[in-house]
Parts: sequence; structure tokens; C-alpha cells
Amino acid sequence: MGVNVIIGAQWGDEGKGKIVDLLSANVDIVARYQGGANAGHTICWGDETFVLHLVPSGIFHEHATCVIGNGVVLDPVAIMEEIRMIRDLGYDVDGRLLISHNAHLIMPYHKRIEEARERMRDSSAIGTTGRGIGPAYMDKFARTGIRVVDLLDRDTLRRKLKRAIEEKNAVLRGVYDADGLDVERIIEEYVEFDQLIDPFVTDTSQYLGQALRAGKRILAEGAQGSLLDVDFGTYPFVTSSHPTVGGCCTGLGVPPTAVDTVTGIVKAYSTRVGNGPFPTELDDATGERLRQAGGEFGATTGRPRRCGWLDLVALRYASMINGLTELAITKLDVLTGLDELKVCTAYRYDGKETTRFPSEVQTLEKVEPAYVSFEGWSEDITGARRMDDLPQAARRYVRFLRDALGVRISMISTGPRRDQIVSEEAAPAFSVSTGGE
Ligand code: IMP
Repeated sequence: MGVNVIIGAQWGDEGKGKIVDLLSANVDIVARYQGGANAGHTICWGDETFVLHLVPSGIFHEHATCVIGNGVVLDPVAIMEEIRMIRDLGYDVDGRLLISHNAHLIMPYHKRIEEARERMRDSSAIGTTGRGIGPAYMDKFARTGIRVVDLLDRDTLRRKLKRAIEEKNAVLRGVYDADGLDVERIIEEYVEFDQLIDPFVTDTSQYLGQALRAGKRILAEGAQGSLLDVDFGTYPFVTSSHPTVGGCCTGLGVPPTAVDTVTGIVKAYSTRVGNGPFPTELDDATGERLRQAGGEFGATTGRPRRCGWLDLVALRYASMINGLTELAITKLDVLTGLDELKVCTAYRYDGKETTRFPSEVQTLEKVEPAYVSFEGWSEDITGARRMDDLPQAARRYVRFLRDALGVRISMISTGPRRDQIVSEEAAPAFSVSTGGE
């Protein structure tokens, strides 16, 4: 018994919500370790679609306890809205949702500073989600952040908030020519929030440590994707946290030795929302077709996602950084109907071919993808439950991916619904092998 970490292997729109929802059926605890309400984890049941931004997708499995770890930046408005939505759907959160006392809070000035900074950057803007994520992590690492635990002591909270807001107002007014915020109103709002959040707050690393000792099984849910990692992603076009595997240890307080499986979620093609290099981007009718067929619009901001072919150079890099032990491929059905599929296997740069992923944007912006082509398929695969149900061309495509990455495939999603999944039990042929088609 240990920790299974779920990692987005691309730019963060891989469909982790559905996979976490499915895997939650077999674990005791689902714990989110980084990011904030910038994430959008979508779950579809029948005709209904829900998007979770902060609470782990495991909340819809009554037996599972859900944890928001210390590595998350918590937006009071977003978390209360989400708790309300979950209760309205008939699910209990009391005693099932635990929030780390060490998580940092998103404050109204974080969103306002982010908005002003993005506006000022103009053409070099990151294209953030506007949820205050970057400025909140800045305060965390500058040691000026306000944590959930600070809500407990009203006098200290008042003192800290007053100091922080006065400083941020000076920046907003002086640097960004933006409006400042009212100190007293914010204090009032956060004191009110404290009463609502109080029953959920605990020392979650202690809780997880005890759970591990008791042999409980934990699913650690990463938000965003490896290529948005602040260290390993396409900096500065990244988020301000560590979606990669190390973020699980620092964002939850679980030791690396407790991690026994690292599942990389890989969409059957690539997408990216926000700015930054994207070598396999398709700025043509095929890209538009993928966007429409895949419903590729950001789950948090609704922005159209940029679409492109699968990029094995980037995926091998993500696999190396995270030590992926298995893959879950999502949205394979979206490729149905394309005559030809392409997969990037190398980059051409400066007259040479390379398989190294250059995370420095100066190089990545200039590389040219080298592709191999695959025949497409036209059969409807949304009813496939076993490897053998997939058309030969689809099997060839996923097996190529499996062998190129050297990682077994544990699941293939063939539609948005829970039951639209080809799983390893039904498809042992997905294990890595040298043979296959
Ligand atoms: P931030 O995380 O809001 O600071 O945004 C930084 C970059 O990460 C932008 O390009 C966002 O579009 C992207 N981003 C943030 N969260 C997600 C996510 O959950 N999925 C995909 N992209 C994301």
C-alpha cells in the first residue's frame, strides 16, 4: 500500500478528472498537492458535466477521504462555491474533506496584481488563468503569505492582513496605476470565511503519515501538467508550482519512498491553453477539427485550446522527469475520422535532429518537428472496452506510443463517460513488449 501519483504529462489539459474519478474507486484517500483554482477537472456522468477546481475528483466516491494539501493555494470563494455544489449534488463533505492548515490563501490583491501585470506585459503576457496563482506563490516564497492557520488567531490575522494590503495597495497604485483594496472589508470577508472553513482544517501531513502507516492507499492528484512546471516546463510560460512528481512530496508531506506508482495522463493528441511555445501546434483545419471534436476549450477560463499532434520528444522528457510507471491515454475517440495521424518523434534545430526536449523557450520556439505518419480509422470506438474492440489502426497508434515511451498503458479513454474506458484488466496486451503491431 502506498501512493499512486497522477501526473499530467503534457500542458495540463489531459482529462485527469475522469481518470482520478475512476481510480478513486479503489483507494482510501485522494489528495491534491499543488496549484489552485486554475485547474479544471471535468467529470461527466450521463448528460451531466461537473468541473472541480480545488476539491479532488474523488469526492464523488463516498468511501474516499479527500485532502487539499499544503502545496495548494486556496481561494476562499472558489472552495466555498465548490463545497456548496458538491453538497447540492447530494454528497457529504463533512469529515470527508480535509484542508491543510499550512496551505496558503489566495487574497483579492493576488488576482488584482496578476491582472494588472498581465495587462502591462501586453504581447509578452503569460496568458494566465487570472486566479491569482503566481502572486500567491510569490508571497509564499517571499515568506509574506497568509496561511489557513493564520485565520485561527484573529489579532494576528488582522495585523498580517493590514500590513500586506497596505504594501500591495502601494504596488497596485504606484506601479500598475490600478485601484487599491479596502483593508477593513477584506478582513471582514476572511474572518467570515474562517467560520466556514474551520471544520475542514487539519494537519494533513500528519493525517497522511498515519494513513500510510495504517496501510491505506492514497491517490495523489496533480493539477496542470509537467510542461507547465515552474522548473521543468517552458519557463516563463508555466504555472508557479510543481505539477511534476516532486510536488507530491513537498505539497503533501509524503516521503518519496511511499510513492509506488506514477501514472502519466496523456491525451491522444496535444493541447495547450495560454501562451508559450508549442512545436506540434496545428494552425489549420486539422487543428480546428481537433478543437471542435474534442471540445477543446479551457475548463476554467473557457478559452479555446491550441491543438496539435502528439509530441514524443516532450512526452519522453515528462516520462524521465516523473519516472512514469504507467500511462493513461485519454480522448482517443477524438482522432476518429482523421485519414492520417502524425506523431512527432524528434526536433530539427540548427540543421541537426535531436530528441532532447529543450525547455528553454529560445530554442523550443525555433525547433521543427519531425513526424512519422499513421493511418487513421473511421470506426466509432466509443463503445470499445477491450483492446480487441479497437480498430487495428488505433491499436497500432497506441502501441507505437507505448513502445516509444517504454511505459505500459493501463487505461485508454474512448469517450467522456465513466464507462467509456479500455482498461488493463481487459487489455493485458498493453504491457510493454518488443512485439505487437
Ligand atoms: P496560471 O497557472 O493561472 O498562473 O497560468 C499560467 C499558465 O498555465 C497559463 O498558460 C495557463 O493557461 C496555464 N494553466 C494553468 N492552469 C492550467 C490547467 O489546469 N490546465 C491547463 N493549463 C493551465
